Amino acid sequence: MGAQNTFQIFVFMSCIFLIGATSASSLKVGYYKYKKCANAEEIVKGVVSKFVLKEPGLGAGLIRMFFHDCFVRGCDASILLDASTLNPNPEKLAIPNNPSLRGFEVVDAAKSALEYACPGIVSCADIIAFAARDAAGLLGNIPYQIPSGRLDGKISNASEVLPALPAPFHNLTQVKALFAAQGLSATDVVALSGAHSIGRSHCSSFTSRLYPNIDPTMDQGFGASLRTKCPQNAQVDGVVPQDFVTPNALDNQYYKNVADLKALFFSDWSLLTSTETANLLSKFQTVPKLFEAKFAESMVKMGNIGVLTGTKGEIRTSCRAVNSI
Ligand code: HEM
Repeated sequence: MGAQNTFQIFVFMSCIFLIGATSASSLKVGYYKYKKCANAEEIVKGVVSKFVLKEPGLGAGLIRMFFHDCFVRGCDASILLDASTLNPNPEKLAIPNNPSLRGFEVVDAAKSALEYACPGIVSCADIIAFAARDAAGLLGNIPYQIPSGRLDGKISNASEVLPALPAPFHNLTQVKALFAAQGLSATDVVALSGAHSIGRSHCSSFTSRLYPNIDPTMDQGFGASLRTKCPQNAQVDGVVPQDFVTPNALDNQYYKNVADLKALFFSDWSLLTSTETANLLSKFQTVPKLFEAKFAESMVKMGNIGVLTGTKGEIRTSCRAVNSI
């Protein structure tokens, strides 16, 4: 009897362990092949290609959207929910997302195409993950497989965004701490920061480095040229490319820019302030293939953050609203 009890406790504990352990790893490469939507990934890719080939900046927007979704409540498409009477202040209205985050129309178009082909099967959280992967393929020729099977969340609060996301004025200790809180390493910080080789920034994200004096951690000539594009007290918040050398290529130029003190944010510069991150930076600068491999690896890792499976989420009908009860 005693042995039987011990066995039952063992089985029970094993089940608890398995439930906990499968939450992130329950994602699968090719998940929708087994879910009556075999072409899901091709459908998303077709839509993303159409938009990104016309406007490469949207690809940058989609990669950033994946990051901002995953860092706040996990990769659950909480970033996509519009304001509603029940929830007037969702994540997308928070300062780091509004008005700078872009690519929502690409997700909407992919969702419409998927609802037409196989209604109610593909989550918005997976659409973001596929779209970011496809953008990396198009802008960086960095192909990788991304596991899927995420569900969509029902909660989205603007107040959760600022505390979770790194800010452009953060130092390395602050950035590393926010990544570590999501289970991501210093290598992930350096690899994923390579996304700052594409897209744009609003002047307001870095003008504190230009006025009243050009930050001594910035190349002074670069700072002077940024001043011409971002005048002090301008009426309109202008935009500049993240990478002036290869603005639409997801490549290792970012690491050269950081080393030359020609990156926009203090947080970018801060990668030079520890031996570990500075060494990685110089490796990614000299071996592009290493950057590409690590970038892909870190994107997959980021895609595992806080995923919802089982009964904890839903497949939204519209990515902009939770399903009605
Ligand atoms: C390490 C800490 C990070 C900080 C402090 C940071 C901050 C920022 C800021 C302030 C902008 C400009 C927003 C604007 O004013 O328009 C930006 C743009 C961007 N970020 Fe980051 N970011 C970080 C990490 C990442 C990561 C991990 C990714 C994705 C893997 C990423 C992808 C991008 C992309 C692609 C853009 C350009 C977006 C566009 O053109 O629409 N960033 N980032």
